[in-house]
Amino acid sequence: MKPVRKAIFPVAGLGTRFLPATKAQPKEMLPIIDKPLIQFAVEEALDAGITHLILVIGRTKRAIADHFDSNPELDAILRAKGKSEMADYLSTIIPKSACAIYLRQAEALGLGHAVACAAPLIEPDEPFAVLLADDLLEGETPVLSQMVAAYQQTGRPLVAVQSVDPSETGSYGIVDADLPLVGQSSRVRSMVEKPTPDEAPSNLAVVGRYILDGSIMQVLKDQTPGRGGEIQLTDGIRALIETTGVDAFRYNGCRYDCGSKLGYIEATLAHALRHPEYGPHVRAFMAANYTESTK
Ligand code: UTP
Repeated sequence: MKPVRKAIFPVAGLGTRFLPATKAQPKEMLPIIDKPLIQFAVEEALDAGITHLILVIGRTKRAIADHFDSNPELDAILRAKGKSEMADYLSTIIPKSACAIYLRQAEALGLGHAVACAAPLIEPDEPFAVLLADDLLEGETPVLSQMVAAYQQTGRPLVAVQSVDPSETGSYGIVDADLPLVGQSSRVRSMVEKPTPDEAPSNLAVVGRYILDGSIMQVLKDQTPGRGGEIQLTDGIRALIETTGVDAFRYNGCRYDCGSKLGYIEATLAHALRHPEYGPHVRAFMAANYTESTK
């Protein structure tokens, strides 16, 4: 079985739910306090042993490449001001043992299309990860590491899933699988993109972490636009269900849907409240200004 060394980060979506903030920058550059969402995802991938970080960026959005690039002027200024610790931190976000590769998705034709942009970099039988950085996943063991460990047991592609309220199935890809336990994987029988609660085969929703097989690339390249006029990753995964088989993996951890404003606010609040320096101040501020009577 080949190791999972490459990860694709599709970051070329239009981010219309976050306009005007996302007019000139990707939503994946929105920070939780002081760290952009994309950095959380990149760190999660590095932790799982990924060495090739493939970032599919949008035509007009260069901020992500700039974020991970070295910045000698800033480095010199920080060191001159005695802030060497920050300078060291910034220069090692992507360690020398890994590399970042940037690709352009000229038009936002869908998540499946964004993943297919990386086809020339993936061997037909090579496993690779996909991380959607606007899904912030946090677990005691980082979620992609949990998935790589599960993949090493079976050698089968897998998609991360979580239970959602049945009324929410229309916002997700929903799998047909039997999966009672956290940390467990089970074969996917079928998968439906954004079904109504009546059409949904379960309430197990696919979230933004995948380990896929290189053979999906050909399927995606041949794909015609599906639901919503976009080339959907789900359509490619459905083809893998028939060939390699696909497992659903119920990860151990929590998820913030930072592609939505509410999820982004929740993630920011959770991080603010547990921040070692600012957490106590945030709590005191909330207690002083937002008592029961001001709700
Ligand atoms: P979303 O479905 O959240 O779409 O994409 P979006 O366009 O970014 O956001 P809204 O709905 O308009 O607010 C899920 C992931 O797929 C990427 C996005 O950047 C995000 O990480 N994506 C989506 C692409 O890279 N290219 C696309 O054409 C579509």
